[in-house]
Amino acid sequence: MNEEQKQQNIPSVQLHDGNSMPLLGLGVYKTTDQDDMRTAVDAAYQCGYRLFDTASVYGNEDLLGNAVAELGIPRNEIFLTSKVWNNAQRLNDVTGAFERSLKRLRTDYVDLYLIHWPVPGCFRQSWKQLVRLKESGAARSIGVSNFSPAQIEVLESETGVIPAVNQIECHPLWNQEETVSYCQSHGIQVQAYAPLARGAYLDREILIQIGNKYGKSAAQVGLRWLMQRKIGAIPKSVHPARINENADIFDFSLTDAEMAAIHALDEGLRTAHVPQDLVDTDWATVLA
Ligand SMILES: NC(=O)c1ccc[n+]([C@@H]2O[C@H](COP(=O)([O-])OP(=O)(O)OC[C@H]3O[C@@H](n4cnc5c(N)ncnc54)[C@H](OP(=O)(O)O)[C@@H]3O)[C@@H](O)[C@H]2O)c1
Repeated sequence: MNEEQKQQNIPSVQLHDGNSMPLLGLGVYKTTDQDDMRTAVDAAYQCGYRLFDTASVYGNEDLLGNAVAELGIPRNEIFLTSKVWNNAQRLNDVTGAFERSLKRLRTDYVDLYLIHWPVPGCFRQSWKQLVRLKESGAARSIGVSNFSPAQIEVLESETGVIPAVNQIECHPLWNQEETVSYCQSHGIQVQAYAPLARGAYLDREILIQIGNKYGKSAAQVGLRWLMQRKIGAIPKSVHPARINENADIFDFSLTDAEMAAIHALDEGLRTAHVPQDLVDTDWATVLA
């Protein structure tokens, strides 16, 4: 660890299934080079990150698995998340996709396995397969991503099992009030992807001003706002200084007025793309 790096004490939350999950982790979408992956995982692990978020569609589960192995990080010290992609759902091959993910990650279990998107006509069946993976112990916790409250209700009525986590895009420019409220009142942990809105809010004057008051950046203010809403976050970076910066958010608190001012920045901005095969989906009607 160099002088700029600071060991962070990242808190964990207890999921409704009894497992615990770090509130902050490292996203690795678009980290497609083995050296970058090793550098990022090493920097993150050294400053206290324990959660690493990947997906089969990122094409880098093997790079993450290799990095963890090469760095000698004990498997039981980290929390690995992966996700089943849309094609495997359509082929009704969730279990096969899961096994392939494990192999690429060089592990025999994941801490969290998610349905990446609610593929119309498939996601109920996919959820039943995730329930079986949880029962087998190979997926310690199971959850969903990009699901609406109505879609989550379908899962519960079908299987009696509610997701432990819903991973959704969430940041100051899209506060996701309705889905967050629903999940939090049903014991479902919300985890924010694109928590930096891929850079879209980093030049907002109000966030810079609030940051100046605490000696923090706009990125740190946005992440802190998520933490105070009890929403997890998985910011992505391949740069050690930014990886450290993004975790250095546990030594200050935003006031209620600052929380409200950030909340008011909402403009429903989606920065992550809806997958091409789901672009024409009318989400309001997808309940099967
Ligand atoms: N479930 C889903 O459908 C879904 C969708 C999208 C993403 N995700 C997950 O969520 C993770 C995070 O989302 P994301 O990668 O889309 O977006 P993000 O974390 O909001 O933003 C990442 C971008 O911000 C830059 N960055 C990171 N820290 C910074 C800082 N402190 N200051 C300035 N710029 C900074 C990164 O560049 P550098 O790397 O060059 O630092 C990168 O270009 C992904 O990696 C993935 O694991 C899930």
